[in-house]
Amino acid sequence: QVRDAGVRRSGTPLTLRCCSSQISRSDFPPSFKFGASTSAIQTESYPNVGGRGPSSFDHYYGDLPAVESYTKYKEDVQCLKNMNVDAYRFSISWCRILPTGKKSDGVNQEGIDFYNNLIDELIRNGIEPFVTLFHFDMPSALQKDYNGFLSSDIVADFNDYADICFKAFGHKVKYWVTCNEPLTFIQSTYMSKENDLTRDPYKAAHNLLLAHATAVKTYRDNYQSTQNGKIGLVMDINWALPLTNTPTDVAAANRSWDFMIGWFLDPIVTGDYPFSMKTIVRERLPKFSGDQQELVEGSYDFVGINYYTARYSKGFDYSENALPISYTYDQYLQSLTEKNGIPIGPKAQGNDWIYIYPAGLGDVLLNLKLKYNNPLIYITENGYAEKRDDSIPVEKALQDDARIEYIKSHLDYVRKALRDGVNVNGYFVWSLMDNMEMDSAYTIGFGLNYTDYSNDFKRIPKKSANWFKSFLTSGSHPH
Ligand code: NOJ
Repeated sequence: QVRDAGVRRSGTPLTLRCCSSQISRSDFPPSFKFGASTSAIQTESYPNVGGRGPSSFDHYYGDLPAVESYTKYKEDVQCLKNMNVDAYRFSISWCRILPTGKKSDGVNQEGIDFYNNLIDELIRNGIEPFVTLFHFDMPSALQKDYNGFLSSDIVADFNDYADICFKAFGHKVKYWVTCNEPLTFIQSTYMSKENDLTRDPYKAAHNLLLAHATAVKTYRDNYQSTQNGKIGLVMDINWALPLTNTPTDVAAANRSWDFMIGWFLDPIVTGDYPFSMKTIVRERLPKFSGDQQELVEGSYDFVGINYYTARYSKGFDYSENALPISYTYDQYLQSLTEKNGIPIGPKAQGNDWIYIYPAGLGDVLLNLKLKYNNPLIYITENGYAEKRDDSIPVEKALQDDARIEYIKSHLDYVRKALRDGVNVNGYFVWSLMDNMEMDSAYTIGFGLNYTDYSNDFKRIPKKSANWFKSFLTSGSHPH
């Protein structure tokens, strides 16, 4: 069991004002990596080009074309270079490598060539590739054939895919992420509001953990000693503040941690699910066999964290009578955005779920240190969204001062965490450019760079990109 130590402050709403002092790059260690993040499905476009197979995610956007990174990857690299970042986190599209998901149907060489070109372009420009293997999109055949992660067949198929990538790119890629945001993926794919047993999130999560751990084992057994890279899992977490100091609210905040991040992180650190999940989810939570436990425990070199926002947690009676057996995890969470009518933090302009609470990032980092024996951490996403509306003139849209404040105020807490001895060694902004945001498509923008949808998807640096550049250049370490 992980220690139930951790920090847990009860909540007072915060107004956003940055920073306690000037922040500069030299406040961070020389090895600390600054970067920007994207994913294949949100940027590449061209789903039917280059031998790519259909993906489970294609239906989500219909014919919307993302932002053409498949043909504009060199421009993307120039945007990165222009900001002077150290690293680029992007994802490989599984169905560009294995169009049907089955290795026996053949590897798509055009897909391998595309990612080799991108990686080579990054390296030529002095930018470290940080590669996610699975960022929400899987070959749709695997979803159709056996319901994706609901079947343990996914473990071997994911391992084949990972193995091909390690072999093809591992001499150049030193940072691998198996899966992005298992919580969000499972919640949107395998969670239902009813007691629908065909959409069992606990089973899907169990198979995802086994797929992750099997790929890590393959990397460690066959590649790591020669390729000298690191491999980890990226998880999303909202910091949970107890609504009040009462024990039930504090317990609710701890439960929120367990159901959001402990669900995945406890197994890979300790080989088992959090105690609270075992007592609440009971027989619906799969058990790790001895062999599985051995496989999963310790299956990470680093922990990736996507942090955007925080919530209040309110305690409630979750005894058997009060809580019917169902598959909705939010019944266990009771997250609130307000206390006495006051929001937990200012709301991001274009976004209905980001309430800005930078201190939460500091507390997440400290909690990771205290509960999980000070793991190596990368903040793989953190970011702000504004409205994208074509009636706003480009010049105005580029003035994203709120994003600069958001980034600075979060970096301020990363700096504090470093002083507290947290082993955090990187920070990536979501996102490199405005792109296809999950539920909002083109209507909001997370980008440091503006994407001009009416002018050939041209990328234009926003004020924040210029700020990031000067931040990274001032007091800069040689890299
Ligand atoms: C998390 C996801 O990894 C990414 O795909 C998404 O666009 C951002 N957060 C913002 O919602």
